[in-house]
Amino acid sequence: MDDPRDDPRINGDSYDHREDVDGSHSFKKQKLSSTLGFISESEIRQEFAHHKHGIARINNGMFGSCPSSIISAQKRWQLRFLEQPDDFFFNHFQKRILHSRNLIKTLINAEHVEEVSLVDNATTGAAIVLQHVGWAFAEGRFQKGDAVVMLHCAFEAIKKSIEAYVTRAGGSVIVVHLPFPVSSNEEIIAKFRDGLARGKANGLKIRLAIIDHITSMPAVVIPVCSLVKLCREEGVERVFVDAAHAIGNVHVNVKEIGADFYVTNLHKWFFCPPSVAVLYCKKSDVFSELHHPVVSHEYGNGLATESAWIGTRDYSSQLVIPEVLEFVSRFEGGIEGIRRRNHDAVVEMGEMLATDWGTSLGSPPDMCASMVMVGLPASLGILSADDAFNLRSFLRNRFMVEVAIHYEGPKDGESHGNMDELGCISGYARISHQIYNTVDDYIKLRDAVNQLVHEGFTCKALCSS
Ligand SMILES: Cc1ncc(COP(=O)(O)O)c(C=O)c1O
Repeated sequence: MDDPRDDPRINGDSYDHREDVDGSHSFKKQKLSSTLGFISESEIRQEFAHHKHGIARINNGMFGSCPSSIISAQKRWQLRFLEQPDDFFFNHFQKRILHSRNLIKTLINAEHVEEVSLVDNATTGAAIVLQHVGWAFAEGRFQKGDAVVMLHCAFEAIKKSIEAYVTRAGGSVIVVHLPFPVSSNEEIIAKFRDGLARGKANGLKIRLAIIDHITSMPAVVIPVCSLVKLCREEGVERVFVDAAHAIGNVHVNVKEIGADFYVTNLHKWFFCPPSVAVLYCKKSDVFSELHHPVVSHEYGNGLATESAWIGTRDYSSQLVIPEVLEFVSRFEGGIEGIRRRNHDAVVEMGEMLATDWGTSLGSPPDMCASMVMVGLPASLGILSADDAFNLRSFLRNRFMVEVAIHYEGPKDGESHGNMDELGCISGYARISHQIYNTVDDYIKLRDAVNQLVHEGFTCKALCSS
């Protein structure tokens, strides 16, 4: 398929809301699809038959998932290389990578294919952008104290990258606290505006804003278009969107978003095998100054070309992108249909859990994508990040439930967030929904938590000393 956007199965707008859950705890969402020639429920089961049996896997947000037909395609690409490496490298490799980049260019609505680099992951994309900031300090284009701005819950690897490339070079960091629980985009925009004003009041020149498209913990869809616009109005020099969770989870249109740099993983919500991400860099005066941190003989030939060869390694996760597009085209509405159905299903499951536990969601449904934060009963006594981590391990080991747990403590001088009948909700389960999930996965989590509450369990019981 030359242009996936031309295919109504990828960008179809004819999606009907799926039916309600039936009594046997399985979604009916594929019923309509199979009659129209789309993938059937049993074919989906087959595609994920390699998942360990008996595990309620509701943490797709962490490592994503890869269907077996894509794993097979990946093996075919690996064999193509191993069969005759010289021929593959000299006659086919670059063309195939360019083909993958062209497909992605269309998918994210970039202007030029040179703006699209395939890199290993969001961590690498961030290192490319922040390394460039580091050089600007080292080469005297930025002055000591010049700032970057980020959310307090930016991903830890990104914070470390800021430490390595910005703080170490003499830069300063403005931290914007993401309100959580949160009820509107305006709350986030107001906090961001305050952060920029704080920086200005301190006389700081803000060189880069780093904005998540979907934060990791807690998971919240951030109003990126509004924040990018705000940054432009306030004179922030460049904007980098860490959209590790975005593609396949929210609609991505880089022209509409308007950031200078945008990185999104393809292995989280887009069914690619680990690991591959897209780093979009808008053409600008700094375009030729961006470099991959792994320097190869392609150094100086443009970031996309540098990224396409970082020495001998396995590039198969980048080569399977055409097959992944074929895979998503088997679903009604393609990737847009998948993400809408995931969203509806995860919200329904989140509301089911919150109602059952007597808690509430951390944000309204329109601020969630395919991940929802569900308040956990206060009686579980989740009083620290360690408690949250221990509970997560306990749910895996005792109940075979894979779910991320977030601790959100009360903040000084602020409201105590959401409450249940026993007190302040300080723990949230981040539940994900991907096409392989069934209602039983969420029932398993619901029952595990209810059993713990019934037993009078608190996280204190998991403390090692
Ligand atoms: C917001 C965010 N940024 C960056 C990353 C890092 O992604 P990766 O490990 O694929 O580099 C993650 C991973 O979950 C994330 O959630």
